[in-house]
Amino acid sequence: MSTTLPSPAVRPDGRKRAFLEVNDLRVHFPTADGVVKSVDGLSFELERGEILGIVGESGSGKSVTSLAILGLHKGSNAEVTGEIWLDGREIIAATEEEVRDLRGSEMGMIFQDPLSSLHPFYTVGAQISEAYLVHTKVSKKEARAEAIRMLEKVGIPNAPSRYNDYPHQFSGGMRQRAMIAMALICKPRLLIADEPTTALDVTVQAQILELIKQLHDELNSAVILITHDLGVVAETCDKVLVMYGGQCVETGPVDEIFYAPEMPYTWGLLRSMPRMDRDRQTRLTPIPGSPPSLINVPSGCVFNTRCPFTDRVDGDKCRTVHPNLEQGATPGHAVRCHIPAAQRQEIWLTEISPSL
Ligand SMILES: Nc1ncnc2c1ncn2[C@@H]1O[C@H](COP(=O)(O)OP(=O)(O)OP(=O)(O)O)[C@@H](O)[C@H]1O
Ligand code: SF4
Ligand SMILES: [Mg+2]
Repeated sequence: MSTTLPSPAVRPDGRKRAFLEVNDLRVHFPTADGVVKSVDGLSFELERGEILGIVGESGSGKSVTSLAILGLHKGSNAEVTGEIWLDGREIIAATEEEVRDLRGSEMGMIFQDPLSSLHPFYTVGAQISEAYLVHTKVSKKEARAEAIRMLEKVGIPNAPSRYNDYPHQFSGGMRQRAMIAMALICKPRLLIADEPTTALDVTVQAQILELIKQLHDELNSAVILITHDLGVVAETCDKVLVMYGGQCVETGPVDEIFYAPEMPYTWGLLRSMPRMDRDRQTRLTPIPGSPPSLINVPSGCVFNTRCPFTDRVDGDKCRTVHPNLEQGATPGHAVRCHIPAAQRQEIWLTEISPSL
């Protein structure tokens, strides 16, 4: 084992660490059928004030990644390796207690199903106050007042009386708002929202996203937004990370990913989802085939079993050599594909973009 501890402030290459830095994250689950490699070598950075969208098909490792950042795999059978730095503190090596401290004070989370975060036996208000009391030195009365202020802020009508309601007395949209109030009451500097609006109707979805953006502006927080909705990503995020088979296959500024993507899987995603910025009704084309096994991950490029462009690469490289994540057209844009950069850009412009 190495005896040199990594520095909290500086990366091995001498650069200052980002606010959130994920380095070579692997989350593997040993099962009776074999080891499930849910996340396999994921690296990315996020600064305060930035919103990162993580997109990818079901099972690509998005939620497992967010749970790792929140330290929620601790105590489970998950084998987690790599480094996750949050403001100079490393989460994977930290104890459960240290991470519990960070959650709530430094990190807030909003999940798809608020019932999994709200306890059915306690009132909504008591749970929000409790979240505040755990991390701040205030009286119960002050915590109650702050919780009511927060409920008002997220748009719960009659907040002082709704404070005493139990979660089942709230509608789905109100529960989601209550969870946002609970996530934000401690002013987290990192907010992770995992499909925060999927179960809600379109109007409530828009309100919730507006709320996340507003609170992000106020607190200058870093936000990770996981969603299946590329329209939401286009409207909300600064950067995008495309996940496939537990790996990052493309990442970059949001405009690059939407208007100059370079990875065949991203092209497939864009073709399979509606585009709000196009007038004409275009036919949506699902990506043929199904996501790869995470137990027997394909050798070579993880997308090779479904990729229609393997004939653009010499020999059998797509099936035998794992492509590195390399810089795309601009710095900050990274792509995992063997097709040379200039050729990828040409394919996008001449073959893919016109058909969208
Ligand atoms: N505890 C576990 N044991 C074994 N496999 C697991 C475990 N948790 C997650 N997985 C597997 O890891 C893979 C990634 O799961 P994850 O929940 O991160 O997907 P996701 O990208 O969030 O998908 P979705 O869009 O459906 O939410 C899936 O194949 C899932 O079955
Ligand atoms: S490396 Fe090969 S299989 Fe992978 S995306 Fe590029 S062309 Fe397709
Ligand atoms: Mg998920």
